[in-house]
Amino acid sequence: MAWTFKSALAALLIAGLAATAFGADDPIKLRQETMKAIGGAVGSLVKMVKGETPFDAASAKAALATVATKAQGIDIASYFPAGSDKGETKAKATIWSDPDGFKAALAKLQTAAEQQEAAPLASIDDVKKALGALGGACKSCHDTYRENKS
Ligand code: HEC
Repeated sequence: MAWTFKSALAALLIAGLAATAFGADDPIKLRQETMKAIGGAVGSLVKMVKGETPFDAASAKAALATVATKAQGIDIASYFPAGSDKGETKAKATIWSDPDGFKAALAKLQTAAEQQEAAPLASIDDVKKALGALGGACKSCHDTYRENKS
């Protein structure tokens, strides 16, 4: 009896730990989901610029708002805590060896996203401009702080 209780407790404990490791508060998952949402929003703007979807100011604005909100939400302490370079991640060790550079790359995205969200959006040319500004920020961070292997 005592043994059964103990092993049930152990199983619960293991399940609890597993939930922590793979659940929503896993920083790797958290940042990958956030990046996916940012990537999806940017992707919808790319489609517009390519003419795959018609220009629509309201949905372009909404996509830019998503990028701005998600980018603002990234705080390095919880999305990139020390030790989260291990596992299913493409985050490079440079994030932790060059924290100031990484902080600057993140700030660049946050500023660009905020500016583009606030900028007038009247035509497809404005979507192109916004994409150019955001794309530069994505690329400069990914080039230095993300593994290129796909
Ligand atoms: C401050 C640095 C930084 C900026 C700026 C940045 N990213 Fe990322 N991004 C990363 C890192 C680091 C990863 C890898 C995360 C991991 O695997 O843990 C990543 C991963 C991704 C992924 C893959 C997510 C997945 O499914 O695993 C996408 C998509 C993405 N970024 C899109 C974007 C787009 C679009 C922008 C610009 C609008 C952007 N990122 C800006 C650092 C950045």
